[in-house]
Amino acid sequence: MTLHWLQSARSARSIIGLAAALMIGLASPATAQQASGTALARVLVLGTGGTIAGQANARAGNAYDSGKVSAANLIAAIPGIDRLAQISAEQISSIGSQDMNDKVWFDLVKRIRAAIDNKEVDGVVITHGTDTMEETAFFLQNVLDTDIPVVLVGSMRPSTAIGADGPANLYDAMRVASAPESRGRGVLVVLNDTIHGARWVQKTNTTSVQTFRSPDVGPVGYVDTGSLRFLQPAIPAKAAKLKLPDAPPLPRVDIIYSHANMDAAEVEDAVKRGAKGIVLAGVGDGNSSKSAIDALAAAAKQGVVVVRSTRVGSGYVNRNVEVEDDKLGFAVSLDLNPQKARVLLELLIANGVTEPGAVQQAFAQ
Ligand code: DGL
Repeated sequence: MTLHWLQSARSARSIIGLAAALMIGLASPATAQQASGTALARVLVLGTGGTIAGQANARAGNAYDSGKVSAANLIAAIPGIDRLAQISAEQISSIGSQDMNDKVWFDLVKRIRAAIDNKEVDGVVITHGTDTMEETAFFLQNVLDTDIPVVLVGSMRPSTAIGADGPANLYDAMRVASAPESRGRGVLVVLNDTIHGARWVQKTNTTSVQTFRSPDVGPVGYVDTGSLRFLQPAIPAKAAKLKLPDAPPLPRVDIIYSHANMDAAEVEDAVKRGAKGIVLAGVGDGNSSKSAIDALAAAAKQGVVVVRSTRVGSGYVNRNVEVEDDKLGFAVSLDLNPQKARVLLELLIANGVTEPGAVQQAFAQ
């Protein structure tokens, strides 16, 4: 397998990248290792469930149940995937990712760390539902300290559907996870021939196979059965990673969704429920009604860590524009959407980082 990355600047990459790609030509799907007779990369597949493992059920229409097919059986059904890597498959959970939770996250980290420490693997693929894939990817990115590719993959159609997209996505994920060029790029998400970085990727469409996008920055690369291309060189990973407590759960962080005609009740309820942190999915630039902002300021005074994010779906949340963050003791999520801001805030609080300035610094990294 020949791989290329194109050293084009982000702003110009769609035009330059396309032209360069055409000039370079498509790579053969046969691997470089096969051509040279060297061993295939060792890739560990960890199944968690999701639509990729979904099966039609007896209910009418397109009804299906997530997480019914094992990762091993998903692999076994893909012709030629065994020519990409030496594959081993294990099941961590069998759930729809709407039920993703701290226990599965801790189990994933434990297994991946053990595989790395024992030098068992050159890459990891995680099969996962698409609903919360971006949260798991971002969680892993913040706690795993490794250069090896860790690739999350899912599908929008269950394995029994006409035109199921799971097999192609899993094949593509295997190509990415087995490629040396994928090292040092953090945790990746692969769906519909597109590779995204964990910090930026978001699910943006309820049903389309092109649901994942990285607003403001775009994907990090493209992959299909014939080629693998990264659009930029790998950025060396930062050494400092957040520590995980010995066991779940992580500290409670609630997301409060802002809307017209909003009062203080939801913020006050979150504080009563024992939230250690609150992420505001604010309107516009992370804003909310005066009542809600006042309640958030009161919460911050009591030691609840408050981070303002936005429900908008793209763009940065800026400090001290309409809301006086310095005065009120808030941090802003910058480019992180509310669900990812929640993950980072849980980890920061677990690591004892609660002072607004320190929280803000961590979000900026
Ligand atoms: N049940 C959802 C999940 O597992 C379906 C979405 C999907 O996997 O594509 O996330």
